[in-house]
Amino acid sequence: MKILVTGGAGFIGRWVVKRFLDEGHDVWIIDNLSNGNKENILAFEGKGNFHGLTIGDVANMGEISSSFNLDPDICVHLAAQINVQESLDEPHKAFLNNVIGTYNVLENAVKHNTKVVIIGTCMVYDVALEKPLSELSAVKPASPYAGSKLAAEDLAISYYHGLGHPVTILRPFNTYGPHQKTNMEGGVVSIFVKNKLDGKDLNIFGDGTQTRDLLYVEDCADFIYTASISEKAVGEVINAGTGEDIDINDLAMVVMGDESRIKHIEHHHPQSEIQKLVCDSTKAKSMLNWTPRTTLKEGIDKLEAWMLEEMKDG
Ligand SMILES: NC(=O)c1ccc[n+]([C@@H]2O[C@H](COP(=O)([O-])OP(=O)(O)OC[C@H]3O[C@@H](n4cnc5c(N)ncnc54)[C@H](O)[C@@H]3O)[C@@H](O)[C@H]2O)c1
Repeated sequence: MKILVTGGAGFIGRWVVKRFLDEGHDVWIIDNLSNGNKENILAFEGKGNFHGLTIGDVANMGEISSSFNLDPDICVHLAAQINVQESLDEPHKAFLNNVIGTYNVLENAVKHNTKVVIIGTCMVYDVALEKPLSELSAVKPASPYAGSKLAAEDLAISYYHGLGHPVTILRPFNTYGPHQKTNMEGGVVSIFVKNKLDGKDLNIFGDGTQTRDLLYVEDCADFIYTASISEKAVGEVINAGTGEDIDINDLAMVVMGDESRIKHIEHHHPQSEIQKLVCDSTKAKSMLNWTPRTTLKEGIDKLEAWMLEEMKDG
């Protein structure tokens, strides 16, 4: 099949591109490189079924339209402004990139008869008080990032119900692994591992009792791939996570193993924090036969090994 991946030069996107290429599909990318980079996709240069990166903006109708000229069968839409703090400071950026960008993707998909796979996020949910979060759990977007992602999902699913267009909504839980950034745009696992390797202390925002269900990125890409090619997933919202959460204090100890190098600092945006996030992946298992394969320990080891190689290469 012919696959267009928006945001394919980013962290999760490059693993999704890799998976589709490995399965023999023809793949091309649109990415404005606002948070991704060419190094992430260097390994794909020269592969016969990789048709390259177009540097372009999904929020610009002309630029995204050109990427549809090759009539993709599927568009996996990952391009998004992902920084929670930036979305609080400048909500219009989240709206423009995440909502208008998704609208532009959908309009082109209708014209070119392209199935759309929207990569949503677990950050749309309310706290998991009593049980893990299923697709039916209450939502409570607590930042313009989460709000714009939920708005994008709703718009997309309206194209399914209202226009009969094939759309699938996927909500991976917090994802970590090689190629994730280690600055504030990155995830907590990457930031912790990098600080450890740099000989720095780990800083925890707030009291560290907030929990995350951490999904290794190749398991996330496997979920996105499996759901994208599934007919059953059309018109559905599907979660993916491990089903186990870990609090940030325990995660810091798993990474660092030395309490004296772990500090607590004031949270930048406590109002947008979700205290407990744990995923119910029953639907992904029953509908797609998908389960994650990588334990947290294995995932952290792989991430650390990759980072050490990167640091060697400068
Ligand atoms: N990282 C996670 O834990 C996680 C979990 C669930 C869902 N997601 C979702 O997965 C997707 C990818 O996230 P990621 O962590 O890989 O982030 P990322 O920032 O590494 O990837 C996003 C990519 O999109 C590009 N981009 C941003 N705005 C764009 C625009 N207007 N036009 C074209 N390209 C644009 C960026 O340059 C980047 O390469 C996002 O939609 C995010 O909401 C991420």
